Amino acid sequence: MPTRKSSKPAAKPNGTHAPLTDSLGNTILIGDCRLVLPTLPQVQQSQVDLVFADPPFNWNRDYDQWKDDMPREDYLTFTYDWIDLCARALKPTGSMVINIPDDTAAEIVCYLKGALARKPAHQMHMVNWCIWHYRFGQNRNGSFINSKVHVLYFCRDPLRRTWNPTQVLEPSDRATTYGDKRTLSKRDGMPPGMRVPMDVWYGPFWGRIQGNNKERKAEHDNQLPEVYLERVVRCASNPGDTVLDPFTGSGTTAVIARNLGRTFLGSEFSADNARRAFQRMLDGPTRPLGTSINASSSIVKTRKALVIPKIKI
Ligand SMILES: C[S@@+](CC[C@H](N)C(=O)[O-])C[C@H]1O[C@@H](n2cnc3c(N)ncnc32)[C@H](O)[C@@H]1O
Repeated sequence: MPTRKSSKPAAKPNGTHAPLTDSLGNTILIGDCRLVLPTLPQVQQSQVDLVFADPPFNWNRDYDQWKDDMPREDYLTFTYDWIDLCARALKPTGSMVINIPDDTAAEIVCYLKGALARKPAHQMHMVNWCIWHYRFGQNRNGSFINSKVHVLYFCRDPLRRTWNPTQVLEPSDRATTYGDKRTLSKRDGMPPGMRVPMDVWYGPFWGRIQGNNKERKAEHDNQLPEVYLERVVRCASNPGDTVLDPFTGSGTTAVIARNLGRTFLGSEFSADNARRAFQRMLDGPTRPLGTSINASSSIVKTRKALVIPKIKI
C-alpha cells in the first residue's frame, strides 16, 4: 500500500481524480483537503452552513493513503491550517463541530478562542464542549480506559447561529425514570417529557462502530455512529443548507447530510475511501432517520415511568 513520505500537502497533484458528484450537487473531492477544498465556490464565497470534522488523530492509524504519524509540531500546523480553511468557508450563521481525542482537544479550543500566538482565521465562540462516551474503549491497565472523544461545538456568531433544539430532543429522565410530573408541563418551550440532550452523548446506537456492528463498512475502523451525525446535522443546519466535511472517511456525514436534505461537500485523501463513501451516501443510512429521537439515554433503572407522547420530527 503506497504511503505519503512527508507531512507536506498532497502526495497526489490537485485534480488527478475527478470529483464524485450526484445530480443534487452532493460532492466528494479526492485529495488533501487543504488543496482541494479551496477550489469549491461555496468555500471561496463562505457559503457553508456547517462544518463537521473528524480529522486523523496522528495515532499512526491505517487510513489507506494518509500517513498518520506526523511530528507533533507538523500535526498542529496541519490542524490549524484545516481549521482556518473551514472557518473561512463558514457563513456568519455557521457552526463548526470537531471530533477530537484528549491529545489535541485543549490545543484546538485554545486556538479557536484566540488564546495562542497563532490566531485563527475567525475567532470562534464555544457553544458546547460535548463528550461522545462509548463503553468499548481499548482495554489497558496502566491508566484508566479511554471511553470518550471530545465534540467541540463552535460557532461564528452566538447570536445568529443556526440552532434547532426541537430536532434533536430525547425523553427526560424525569419522564422515563423518576415519574416526575413536572416534566409534563415544561416551561422551556419543549414538548412534555422531552428535553434537549445533555452534553455527554451516549445511549442506544451510540457505541463505537466495531466488530459486527450493523453500521460497519468494510475497510473502515474509524467510522462514527450515524446517530452522532444525525444529531449534529439536525441541530446546527436546516434543510437546503450546505454541510462540509474535510475528512469524509467512510461517509457518515455524507450519508446523513444528503438524506436529511442538505447539500454535502467533502474531501477525502484516499480515492478508494472516497468512492466507498460516495456509494454509501447514495445507498442511504442503516436505520431510518429519527430512530434515536424517542429513545431514553437514562442509565438508572426505572423507578416510575410516565407515559409521554411520542414526537415526530
Ligand atoms: C477519522 S477518519 C474520518 C471518519 C469519518 N468521520 C467516518 O465516520 O467514517 C479520517 C479520514 O480523513 C482522511 N484524511 C486524512 N488526512 C486528510 C487530508 N489532509 N485531506 C483529506 N482527507 C484526509 C483519511 O483518509 C480518513 O479517511
